Amino acid sequence: MCKRNFLLIFTAFLVAFGLGGCRSLPPSKPSSEWAPQEARGAAVFQAKCARCHYPTSTQPLHGPGLQALTKLKAMPSGAPPTDERLTAVILHGRQMMPGTPLTDDQLNDLLAYLRTL
Ligand code: HEC
Repeated sequence: MCKRNFLLIFTAFLVAFGLGGCRSLPPSKPSSEWAPQEARGAAVFQAKCARCHYPTSTQPLHGPGLQALTKLKAMPSGAPPTDERLTAVILHGRQMMPGTPLTDDQLNDLLAYLRTL
């Protein structure tokens, strides 16, 4: 009886931590290694995106967490994370996400930063 309970709990732990931990994402580039453009993009992100998106997690805030966004085959919507799709989402928004007007420089810096996530 006692032994069986232990096995159940042990299995639950394996499922919760063992399997869950397998979904680890490729690591983000540390800020100490950012190129100047990536650092400028991080500032754009802080100003325009951070209130709705976590950059270093996939946990949702108002929108989905963006960790490893450009390293995965598909974004949460299922669209591939190409510069074209990202640019369209950023400038024009998508469903509950408002569009963000940016200059070409800000946009290019932001795309460079998103690729480090
Ligand atoms: C007011 C909150 C808000 C702001 C500000 C915001 N977003 Fe979003 N974002 C959202 C929401 C909500 C979604 C989910 C939209 C949906 O239903 O597909 C989303 C979705 C996304 C997606 C996923 C698109 C897809 O195809 O799955 C990306 C990438 C994204 N946002 C990037 C950004 C970037 C970069 C910025 C800064 C320029 C930004 N967002 C600013 C709320 C926001």
